[in-house]
Amino acid sequence: VPKHILTACQFNKEELGGVIGHADTMRERVRNEKSRRELASTYPGSVVATMFYEASTRTRLSFESAALRLGMSVIGTENAAQFSSAAKGETIEDSTRVVAGVADTIVMRHNENGAAERAASVSTVPVINGGDGTGEHPTQALLDAYTIMSKKHTLEGLHVVMGGDLRHGRTARSLAQLLALHRGNHFSFVSPPDLTMGDDVKEYLTAKGSSFSETDDMMGGVLSDADVVYWTRTQLERHDASAPGHAQNDPNFTIGLGALNAMSGNAIIMHPLPRIGEIETIVDLDPRAAYFAQAENGLFVRMALLDLVMSDN
Ligand code: CP
Repeated sequence: VPKHILTACQFNKEELGGVIGHADTMRERVRNEKSRRELASTYPGSVVATMFYEASTRTRLSFESAALRLGMSVIGTENAAQFSSAAKGETIEDSTRVVAGVADTIVMRHNENGAAERAASVSTVPVINGGDGTGEHPTQALLDAYTIMSKKHTLEGLHVVMGGDLRHGRTARSLAQLLALHRGNHFSFVSPPDLTMGDDVKEYLTAKGSSFSETDDMMGGVLSDADVVYWTRTQLERHDASAPGHAQNDPNFTIGLGALNAMSGNAIIMHPLPRIGEIETIVDLDPRAAYFAQAENGLFVRMALLDLVMSDN
């Protein structure tokens, strides 16, 4: 049975620790010239297919770089909705069956919730969910956890403030569920009232023993003892076109100097990126800004994940 990566909830604490440790090894090996060259002989002759039905910079390119660094070849399409036979009406299942016949692992991003799971249900090779609709983004959650571990040296007992469009943001959903593996984490969800975190995630956190609170007031004190401030963009592409909608760059949900001043010196500021104004560029100069290091960590974590699914294959 191929080892798929479909949801953050599939990992237990030991497996999460294993991914983090393996990503650390990958980082060391990439940074050492001799070891980097040796990595390229890990999976020669193997092929990764990247099937991206939705736009991506980080996920696709870091997976492709990860595959190439492990000696794999990469095939795929950056715009499968338009340039694969999905444009002619082919189903995810039929496309997956065909791609599984020509590749050893599939990385899929899709605008529909559950797309990767549908692909996995018919695939003879591992399927990795590179983000499905408003559902999950498990590999992002793993690189987020890796980043928190490397900056805060623990995944326990943290106050994690998650802000922005939590209703449509799959990265915050996956990360909250992944961090619920560890004891003592408290989540503060900061969002406009109609963009709150999904009930399914809140129920999951409660079932796992994690606490949470909700507010629409970013400057009401929630930032003061935050260990991690995880901000997200307004996902306008997923908003109902007939609804009143939300402006980008809403100052009530923008991290700028005011928010920086409200945070402790030990907080870290994360964002899955892309940002579209909800973290002002002045914040980039602050040592607490972790989002570009976070994006870079995607390479090491995705190398570890490809190695994980390929070695079990
Ligand atoms: N964070 C993230 O998933 O970025 P991309 O959409 O650019 O892949």
